[in-house]
Parts: sequence; structure tokens; C-alpha cells
Amino acid sequence: MRERVIDAMTTNETLWFRDVHPFEIFKQVILPELALRQKHTLRIWSAACSSGQEPYSLSMALQEYLWSKPGGLPLGAEILATDISASMLKEAQSGVYEAASLARSLSSERQQRFFEPQGQGLWRAKNEIRARVQFKEWNLKQSFGALGKFDVIFCRNVLIYFSNELKQYILRRFAAALQPYGYLVLGSSESVAGCTDLFDMVRIEPAVVYRPKIK
Ligand SMILES: C[S@@+](CC[C@H](N)C(=O)[O-])C[C@H]1O[C@@H](n2cnc3c(N)ncnc32)[C@H](O)[C@@H]1O
Repeated sequence: MRERVIDAMTTNETLWFRDVHPFEIFKQVILPELALRQKHTLRIWSAACSSGQEPYSLSMALQEYLWSKPGGLPLGAEILATDISASMLKEAQSGVYEAASLARSLSSERQQRFFEPQGQGLWRAKNEIRARVQFKEWNLKQSFGALGKFDVIFCRNVLIYFSNELKQYILRRFAAALQPYGYLVLGSSESVAGCTDLFDMVRIEPAVVYRPKIK
């Protein structure tokens, strides 16, 4: 019952490589930069991951980065994917999608490279893509303390549904959860403006990302 109420109250709309640029920036700017100063396994958080398209897109982008730069992340990288919806997480964790769902926004090249057919029009993300993603049920209204620190947080297309007060509260805690020099990536219609001054805006054309201010 609780699950049905949550699903009815929230939109789970998502896409592979949604808006394209955040994932290109992740692969071409953020990962190479973080790799230069890597002192631990990189931790990436997909906060509000819906049915898994965002964390698996991050994992594919990471894999493409590693292919272009073998040994580029000697200490590795892991992705934590959280959502409030248990049913979305179950779907995400299976890594299985209908061909039509893949075709909505994933190139056929990436589909062939990163998924394998399961029969009956279903495809499953390959083990190398699933293995670095861990799923956990998490309400963004909860404390993040138990999740540890992150190098990159993707929190896209969910804060728009929250009150300004709740947004401020969550953004403050994102700032605390990020490593110095970490990155926060929001949805293309979202911004920290008017909510907090804890972040610097970094323009990486054609998008904008955020970094916690260094005190
Ligand atoms: C529109 S989807 C966005 C998915 C993905 N981030 C993207 O941009 O494609 C919003 C997701 O936020 C989740 N959500 C809503 N309220 C939440 C909360 N309080 N804590 C965690 N997740 C929440 C929903 O279950 C849904 O999966």
C-alpha cells in the first residue's frame, strides 16, 4: 500500500543519458579531472535513480572513459543508486529492460555494446555495467550521514517537486556529503539559485554543474 502511494505521488519518468550533456561532461571533464587527484575509489551517487537509467548511463559513461584511457582510474569507481520507491529499485536492480524502453533514448551502438538479449524482446545490462552499481532504498528527506562521502552527486529532476525549504535542506546536506572538489549535477531545469550559497556554479558549455565552496 505504502509503495503504491509513493508511486502515485511521484513521477518516475527517466531516460538513458537524459539530456546528453551531463553525461558527456561527466565522461570528458569530471572523470579525467577527478582521476588526476584520485586517492580513493571514486564514489558517485545517483540520488533518485528511478528505474535505473541514470546510474547505468553513468556506468556506461565510466566504461567508455576507461576504454579511452585504460588504467585511467587505478583505484576504481563505484555508483550508489538510491530512490524512495521500492518498486522502481526492484526494476532497476534487475537491469532488464524491454527493447522499446532501450530504443527510447539509447543508441543502438550502446545497446549492442552494453546489453545482452534475454529473449522475448528483453535485454539485460551486461555484468560489467551492473557490477559497479549498488541500489538502496533512501528517502532524500532522511539524513545522508550513513551513506558516506561522494565525489559526484547526480540528483536530477526530483528537487523540482520539493518546497524551497526542503530543497535548501537537501542542498545543504549535499554540500556536506561531497568531497572537496566534488561535483553536484542537477536537472537541466534545476538550479541552486535562491536556495543556498554553499556551491560555486561551474559553467561547462552547454551545461552548468556545481562544486561545494572551499572554505
Ligand atoms: C522524475 S524521476 C527522475 C529520475 C532520474 N533522476 C532522471 O533524471 O531521469 C524522480 C524520481 O525521484 C524519486 N523520488 C521522489 N521523491 C523522493 C524522495 N523523497 N526521496 C528519494 N527519491 C524520491 C521518484 O521515486 C522517482 O523515481
